[in-house]
Amino acid sequence: MRLTPGPDRDIDLDTVNLFDLDLYTAGDPHTVWNAMRAKAPLHHQVLPGGREFWSVTRYEDVCRVLGDHREFTSERGTVPTHLGTDDVAAGKLLTSTDPPRHTQVRRAIGAKLTARAVATWQDRIRQAIVGFLEPALDGEVFDLAERALLLPAMITGPLLGIPEKDWAELVQLTAMVTAPSDRHFCHGSEDATLAIAHHELLSYVTEWVKQRRASGEADGSVLDHLVNATAGDAPLTDEEIALDGYSILLGANVTTPHTVSGTVQALIEHPEQFARAQADESLIPNLVEEGLRWTSAATNFMRYAVDDIEIGGGTIPARGAVVAWIGSANRDELQFPDPHVFDIARNGAKRQVAFGFGPHFCIGAPLARMSLRIYFEELLRRFSSLEFAGEPEHLRSFFIAGMTHLPIVARKR
Ligand code: HEM
Repeated sequence: MRLTPGPDRDIDLDTVNLFDLDLYTAGDPHTVWNAMRAKAPLHHQVLPGGREFWSVTRYEDVCRVLGDHREFTSERGTVPTHLGTDDVAAGKLLTSTDPPRHTQVRRAIGAKLTARAVATWQDRIRQAIVGFLEPALDGEVFDLAERALLLPAMITGPLLGIPEKDWAELVQLTAMVTAPSDRHFCHGSEDATLAIAHHELLSYVTEWVKQRRASGEADGSVLDHLVNATAGDAPLTDEEIALDGYSILLGANVTTPHTVSGTVQALIEHPEQFARAQADESLIPNLVEEGLRWTSAATNFMRYAVDDIEIGGGTIPARGAVVAWIGSANRDELQFPDPHVFDIARNGAKRQVAFGFGPHFCIGAPLARMSLRIYFEELLRRFSSLEFAGEPEHLRSFFIAGMTHLPIVARKR
């Protein structure tokens, strides 16, 4: 998705189609969200076929929708691709469960993903990142977006307990879930692609658990931890383990690569920001926050209204689906002055909501933040400059903002 918007233009918000995939590959969603924040902070759209949803685009409203499960439940599904079909994993999958059960399961799963727990992986993660950057050192064209898809597997594969031989397949399957219409990942139709990927990923984790139980071995990985975790005095069921393992794999694979590519793209477009970060490494943690805000890799998440709810100057009827546009909240001028300016020293960049807000705040955020910090430390130490070597190609998705190709050339420092 285009991350630097063109000039504001007149947009007919009554006819705009927020699920039009062309908007995210060839269009300019930020100009649409600018208009929505200004003129229709609660927006209603009916899709051909009758499915309907409401949208909130302002920072404050996005935080309220994501953060308050009493008003907005996760238990009927949270991914807009599944709009209108109640989630079969409701109450079993962490992401589709409300507190208090959500709190119990999250506590059990989260122990291995806290900032303190992931800090012990720092050196291994640095090694993986150095290996990732190595091919760019020879000065040839390097397709950052394509290669970055493998980055989370290289970083988190060992931490999750996934052997290297399986990485490429899992990366492909998780990409199929998030962008089933993209030509790089589509198998036949969108529905078929989703069905295959869902089935294969669940089978993978189920088989992994079966083998681990049979062998009695343990490697201290996150998946191992899931097998032994107890939530509210009872172990997780095999179904919960499979679903949550799936969800962690998905969360890890589909977001970090696009944050990396989008932030590098912004640094190439703004060489003065690149130079500034290179001159002062202490700016890197803030560069990471600004990169997260700028790229907002998870464009949105969905909830369903529990009751008639007033928000954004209108009412969402009980049981109505509401999409919280994170990509828009992170460019809300009331929170972020000059929101479409990429500024690695921005005050308050840490208020970004790229990881969501409230009880479902990304459980992988400490890992993602640490990986991104190390990535930019190593990048800035190695390269004196980066340049584009071709046009970017955008991911065909309204759920994940990303690129499938970003050819660059890097010069050694
Ligand atoms: C830049 C990287 C990442 C971004 C932008 C991101 C974004 C998000 C967002 C917006 C949510 C909230 C979903 C909601 O409100 O329904 C979320 C939840 C989640 N993320 Fe991430 N994520 C990232 C990295 C990761 C990583 C590395 C992992 C795994 C190790 C992960 C696993 C999860 C899981 C399991 C949840 C569900 C948490 C819950 O329901 O309590 N994510 N993520």
